[in-house]
Amino acid sequence: MDTKKLLEKVTSSFEEKFKSTPVLTFSPGRINLIGEHTDYNDGYVFPAAINKGIVAGIQKNEGTTCSVLALDVNETYVFNTEKLEPLEDGAWKNYVLGVVFEVLKKHRLPTNFDIVFAGNIPSGSGLSSSAALENSIVFGLNELFNLEMTKEEMIFISQRAEHTFVQVKCGIMDQYASMFGQANSAVLLDCRNLEASTFAINFEDYEILLINSNVKHSLAESAYNDRRQVCENIARLLGVKALRDVSKETLKSIKHQLTQEDYLKGLYVLEENQRVLEASESLKENDLKRFGKLLFDSHNGLQHQYKVSCTELDFLVDLAKQQSSVLGARMMGGGFGGCTINLVSKEHVSAFKIHVEQLYEKQFSKKCSIYQVQLSQGTRRVYPT
Ligand code: GLA
Repeated sequence: MDTKKLLEKVTSSFEEKFKSTPVLTFSPGRINLIGEHTDYNDGYVFPAAINKGIVAGIQKNEGTTCSVLALDVNETYVFNTEKLEPLEDGAWKNYVLGVVFEVLKKHRLPTNFDIVFAGNIPSGSGLSSSAALENSIVFGLNELFNLEMTKEEMIFISQRAEHTFVQVKCGIMDQYASMFGQANSAVLLDCRNLEASTFAINFEDYEILLINSNVKHSLAESAYNDRRQVCENIARLLGVKALRDVSKETLKSIKHQLTQEDYLKGLYVLEENQRVLEASESLKENDLKRFGKLLFDSHNGLQHQYKVSCTELDFLVDLAKQQSSVLGARMMGGGFGGCTINLVSKEHVSAFKIHVEQLYEKQFSKKCSIYQVQLSQGTRRVYPT
């Protein structure tokens, strides 16, 4: 569904259910060119917001509770802001409750409120519908109650909601990209201090193609937190704040104190961080071949060193590698499923799509989905304009 229809759907559902007209916010999902699992190591990432996201409608109510309707799954949850805690198997609810909880830690809200939201980010695709949802809610509350929070404050609220209510110890990349995205651009972001450089993205004869494996392996969340733990342990062992501060030589000097597995994970982070900087250089020089090779190298590290890939993603990247029309490809996001990002020659996109669709289905007896996305503006109010 396109975003315009989504806005209409959220508005009409809100009016029907709550008999008032909501403030509407749109918050996009994101892609990441390169720099995976570097954000929580105080490193570099290179994400962009896309033209798919979440629309949230939100309005005050004079009652004693708040209601939230998740239109896509047609579920309503009623809650009391004085009794907020994470729900077991809360799914989407924990994102909303977490954000409300974090907002209330800083602000007293004069009334209760209702929310209706819906989205067009394919679920489980690794395009960060979670950050989009969190940001749409915090931004909506900020607008509705004139809380005067900065965008920076809001993304940290979204991130904390994910830490405490969803219990995924995510970095700041997704919330940042979704909130601060700019049309036709990607952002080279230093996650230590949020220093950002905007890159206008024009791959000329090439374009970005996302291939969704349509799998999401269940261990994803605990594996994510485990990886973060490994990185933090290595940093602690070396007496530094984060792996960002470590050179390969230093890491090597404590190799004997680490398992081979953990050493390789640490090494991956150092190398990936370097790749992000190299990738930004290659874009400045318009060297797409070099940029593409870095994507393949990134995947290789994610697969063999950091071990967050899976058979389906590896298969898709291998297919991409066999085509001269593809300059680079890698898994994207946290891993264990979701999408690969591919840099494909425009002329050959259709042929490549057909090739991948056929072989993927033959191999896994299930379909992959292929998307072309536009790089878009970040979280914003769409009504009132
Ligand atoms: C998830 C997290 C991000 C980031 C990526 C991996 O999307 O939410 O913070 O760590 O995984 O790069």
